[in-house]
Amino acid sequence: MVDIHSHILPGLDDGAHDMDESLEMVKMAAETGTTDIVATPHADQQYRYHPGLVRKLIDELQTACGPDPKIHQGCDFHLHSDNIEDALLHTGRYTVNGTQYLLVELDDAIHTSTPEYFDKLERAGIKIILTHPERYAGLREMPELVEHWVAAGRLMQVTAQSLLGRFGQQASSFSRHLMDRGLVHIIASDAHNTHDRVPVLSEAREWVETQYSGTLAHLLFDSHPRAVIEGRDVDLSRFPPQRKSLWSRFFSRRPS
Ligand SMILES: [Fe+2]
Repeated sequence: MVDIHSHILPGLDDGAHDMDESLEMVKMAAETGTTDIVATPHADQQYRYHPGLVRKLIDELQTACGPDPKIHQGCDFHLHSDNIEDALLHTGRYTVNGTQYLLVELDDAIHTSTPEYFDKLERAGIKIILTHPERYAGLREMPELVEHWVAAGRLMQVTAQSLLGRFGQQASSFSRHLMDRGLVHIIASDAHNTHDRVPVLSEAREWVETQYSGTLAHLLFDSHPRAVIEGRDVDLSRFPPQRKSLWSRFFSRRPS
């Protein structure tokens, strides 16, 4: 599996505190089936993003952990005016592996400037992946916006643990609502540590396989995120595959 959203680098933000914790996190990821993980420290007004330092820490962590999982570079890009001006000047600085894909995080409330910022970034050739749409209260109040954004070509990345209920009932039910409508393209961990926000995708994958299909699980955990780290188009021509019937879901084993 490919995990495009994680805070595994030591001492950069509210993720791993030190190299020991970073190592534990990547080990946990590898042991639960993640072959590739993108290190995405925050780029916002609290945590500045320094691509050179991020590269250096990735190299150190990769050397310390060995070849698995392969660690890629990216950031958790907060949508505000300063960040955008810099991203427009240096489009490859913030994107995943220097590709066209940018992981974009919003405020909890959705601002009227958001569509304008999206357009600006897209005009510069950036493809937007919106992180955890299910966790913004403002977006939960306007679900039609997600539909509109997906129709405009933006990709939605839901957090694995939201589907399993670990971000509360509202995030859980909205993430499932989005799944039912084929509005989720990628599932990622957004891991911050080894105890409550973990770099583990296997449980959520099992849940998607049980509730929907192995085909959909493959797209959300392998095929789509792999296209992102390799800078290829995400093929949505046959997306989403049909959901399992109620009958077959009823008789499938469901993880607790
Ligand atoms: Fe994040």
